Amino acid sequence: MASAMSPTTVPATRERLLKIRGGHPLRGEIVISGAKNAALKAMAATLLTADEVVLNNVPMLADVLSMADLLRAFGAEVEVDRDAGRVQVRAREIVRTSAPPDLFRPTRASVVAAGPMLARCGEVSFSMPGGDQIGRRPIDVHLRGFKRMGATVEQRDDQVIACGGRLRGARIYMDYPSHTGTENLLMAATLATGKTVIVNASAEPEVVWLGHLLNRMGARIHGLGSPIVTIEGVERLHGVSDYVPPDRLEAGSFAIGAVMTGGEITMRDVREAHMLPLTEKLQEVGGEVWHNNDVMLVRAGRAPLNAVDIQTLPFPGFPTDLQAPFTALLTQAEGVSRVHERVYEDRLRYTTELQKMGADIRVERIGSSTSEFAASSAMIHGPGQLHGARVQAGDIRAAVSLVLAGLVADGETELDEVYHLDRGYERFVAKLTSLGADVEDTDPQM
Ligand code: EPU
Repeated sequence: MASAMSPTTVPATRERLLKIRGGHPLRGEIVISGAKNAALKAMAATLLTADEVVLNNVPMLADVLSMADLLRAFGAEVEVDRDAGRVQVRAREIVRTSAPPDLFRPTRASVVAAGPMLARCGEVSFSMPGGDQIGRRPIDVHLRGFKRMGATVEQRDDQVIACGGRLRGARIYMDYPSHTGTENLLMAATLATGKTVIVNASAEPEVVWLGHLLNRMGARIHGLGSPIVTIEGVERLHGVSDYVPPDRLEAGSFAIGAVMTGGEITMRDVREAHMLPLTEKLQEVGGEVWHNNDVMLVRAGRAPLNAVDIQTLPFPGFPTDLQAPFTALLTQAEGVSRVHERVYEDRLRYTTELQKMGADIRVERIGSSTSEFAASSAMIHGPGQLHGARVQAGDIRAAVSLVLAGLVADGETELDEVYHLDRGYERFVAKLTSLGADVEDTDPQM
């Protein structure tokens, strides 16, 4: 199989900006794309079998193309059909167990290749994955789990070497329900001897879907979505064809945009149960939400928006990935809102950019953190008229927050580091403009 396109994951060298001219409510209808954080893990799972795995409804994002390159480096044949949104992988043979640093480091998601590689080959080495500037993001939970399953894990500088032949089932207590940590251990345990029990497992919808995908490949996993997940190891997994579920974070971002701009949008392919933590808060702030099968309608209410408090937590708590977009919305709500970020210690960094646009946000910094910015909570006084400014996106969700702020700002907002949007949102500018926003990408990459 040949690659249908050549991936580009490196930020453009010439200046690229997103220009947002505010004042247009979002109105109309869009179809939500497949979930990035589900598709990337499913791609990693393809390393567990020599058979072909076909994934449909895969969002064509820079991080997906990066993961395709990583799979190729391990020896997999990968075909990406951009128009069909399909990725076909056949990892007939694994040709190396050390991950090339230039392919492994750029995104956090590459860490989920470690579990499948260790399970299939009995060894893997990689350099610590990078990702967004949102906190320290260690992987101790993953590594402790590998050790519990009998692997020897060595860390030298930023290199991790794990080996030990076939993994053995074990009881693993996670002191935090890490999202990718659970995924890594789930995948590693599928081919281990005996039974693995993960206690305090993540219940994020993407983790649950990955578990079901693995079961369709022949794994024996029980308890998905609960804090205790049991995996009975099997001898081999087989191929599968599946459909990546819709992206609750993309749907959430547009829903926030509709309420914030005084608009009304209909979104197709949305799972109601995944949206609950957001819809509760959208209604509290004054938005109106309806679900009918997989269609979600969101609109601003008639009254001004109310201040609300949010705290981010693992699912089914309010998602940390929607904290930055929701904070942008809160700048338009009447009163004082409090945002408490409890998942990442450095995920309020983007608030300095919102301040440049005139937002009245005060953050409470954490004294003991290694980062000079790190803050855990913010107080937002609203409503305030935002104004266009030149701002910089530090991560995927911060980028969206700033775009949403630009939609209600006076004048033009220029967003720098636009490539973050390519990493997480499929056809973002096209979807926004189809809803009536005035947004221009000066150098589209995807
Ligand atoms: N943590 C540890 N040790 C570990 C693992 C995590 O201390 O071994 C800490 C982290 O430092 C962080 C917290 O636990 O403070 C949460 O980390 P978690 O492992 O749950 O997150 P993740 O797996 O690294 C995934 C998503 C994130 C999303 C979080 C929460 C992927 C590739 N990334 O990260 O998505 O915010 O779960 O749901 O799935 C994004 O899409 O923009 C994004 C950042």
